[in-house]
Amino acid sequence: MANDSSARIAADLREWISTAAPGAKLPSTRELVARYGASPVTVQKALRTLTAQGMVESRPGVGTFVRAVHLARPNDYGWQTAALGSPRNRIPSLSAALRTPPNDVIALHAGYPDRELLPERLVRAAFARAARSDATIGRPPTAGLPDLQAWFATELGAATPVGVAPPTPSDVVVLPGSQSGLSTAFRALVGAGRPLLIESPTYWGAIHAAAQAGVRVVPVPSGIHGPDPDELARAFEQTRARAFYAQPNFANPTGAQWSSDLADHVLDIVRRHHAFLIEDDWAHDFGITTDAVPVAARDDNGHVVYVRSLTKSVSPAVRVAGIVARGPARERVLADAQASSTYVSGMLQAVALDVVSQPAWRTHLRGLRHQLAARRDLLVGALREHAPAAHLEAVPSGGLNLWVRLPDTTDLARLVHDCETAGVTIAAGDEWFPAEPTGAYLRLNYSGPNPGAFPDGARIIGEMLAQQQK
Ligand SMILES: Cc1ncc(COP(=O)(O)O)c(C=O)c1O
Repeated sequence: MANDSSARIAADLREWISTAAPGAKLPSTRELVARYGASPVTVQKALRTLTAQGMVESRPGVGTFVRAVHLARPNDYGWQTAALGSPRNRIPSLSAALRTPPNDVIALHAGYPDRELLPERLVRAAFARAARSDATIGRPPTAGLPDLQAWFATELGAATPVGVAPPTPSDVVVLPGSQSGLSTAFRALVGAGRPLLIESPTYWGAIHAAAQAGVRVVPVPSGIHGPDPDELARAFEQTRARAFYAQPNFANPTGAQWSSDLADHVLDIVRRHHAFLIEDDWAHDFGITTDAVPVAARDDNGHVVYVRSLTKSVSPAVRVAGIVARGPARERVLADAQASSTYVSGMLQAVALDVVSQPAWRTHLRGLRHQLAARRDLLVGALREHAPAAHLEAVPSGGLNLWVRLPDTTDLARLVHDCETAGVTIAAGDEWFPAEPTGAYLRLNYSGPNPGAFPDGARIIGEMLAQQQK
C-alpha cells in the first residue's frame, strides 16, 4: 500500500518537475505529507526514488531541488554530424598509456612515472616558495621566464663540443609540456599537407600530434639501434621532406640510444637535405647505464629543433618544456606558441626552475638512476623467467620502457583483455606504429606503482601468452 502511494507521489512530482525550472525548490516534506495525505515515510521514499533517478537533489537542512540538468528528453546532437563532416584524419581514441586504472591492478601500461620516483619534497617546497612570490599574479613573457630560458640554454650548452656555438637563452621558447612542443614544431616547421619523416615505431603522441596538425607522416624503419640511415636518406630523396622527428636518446618505445656515429650520420643527411631534425629529448633525466647526449648540441646552424620536457621528471603537475630553435625557425615556433597558448603559467615555470636549480635535484637524479635500474632489471628478469615467449630485443640503457616482441600469431587485443581481467594492464604495441605494425609487440613500462608486483605481472602475461599457444 505504502509502495503504491510512494510511486503515485513520485509520478505526480515527476510531472511537476518536467515543467519546473532547474534549481526550483520542491515543497517541504511537511507540505507534501499534507498535500498527499501520506505518512512522512512514504513521502521520503518517493523523494529517494526521484533522487536515485537523478531528477532532484537534496541539500541537507535546506530542502530538495530540481536537478540543474534533468533530461526531459534525450539531447539531439545529430545536426553536428553534418556540421563537422568527417575528420581529415582518423581521431585516435585515448591512448592506453594515459589510462587511469583502479588502484589494485598491476599497471605496466603507464606513461608517467609513479610518485615515488618524483622529487616530491622539492616540488612541494618550490610551490610554497612560488606561492609567496609575484609568480602567483604576474604574466611572464610569451617566450618564458628569462631565467628558465637561460637554464634550458645552459643545460644544452654544457653538452656542446668545442667549436660549436652554444644556444643562447633567447633561442628557447617555454611551452606547456613537450606534447604541445611537438604540435607546435609540426605546425610551425612542417605544415598541413606536407611530409614529415618519423621513426617507426615511435611515440604514439607524436603520431597523434602529426595527425592533428594535418602533416603527412612518412615512416622510416627504426629499431633498437635507431633509424636506418640509408632508409632515412632514401625517404628524404623520395618525399623531399624538410623535417625528421626522432628520439635519439632512450626512444619510446624501443629504448634505442643513437651511437655518436649514427648521430653524425643523421645530422649529415639532414643538413644535405636542408632539413630539420626535430629532436624529442623526453627522457633526458632517465639515463640508467648511460647519459642522454642531445644531438642538438652538435649543431649551431639551426638544423636541430630540440624539445626538452620537465613534466615527467619534475612532476606531471608541472607541465613545462623548453624548445630550442635557432634562426627564423625560432620565430615560427614562438608565433605558433603565442597563437595556441599565449604563455605558460608563470607559477609553473617558477616551480620548475626552482626544482632544477636546487643542489638536491642532482642528488635526486642520482637516486632515480638506481631506482630505474632496479625496476628495469626486476621486470626484465621476471619476463625471462615467467614469459619466455616474450622476446626482449634489447635491455635499454635508459628511459622507462621495455619493448617486447611476441610470437607473430599472438592475438594482441585478446592478450590485453585477458591480462586486464587477471589484474595486469599492458599496452599493445600497435599504437606506436604510424602505419601497419610490423609485428606483435608490447610496451611495458617499469616506472609505474608497486614494482614488487612486477613478477606477478610477468607471470600473468606468461600464462595468458601460453594459453594462446595451446
Ligand atoms: C617520446 C615522448 N615525447 C613527448 C612526450 C610528452 O611529454 P610531456 O608530458 O612533456 O608533454 C612523451 C610522453 O609520454 C613521450 O613519451
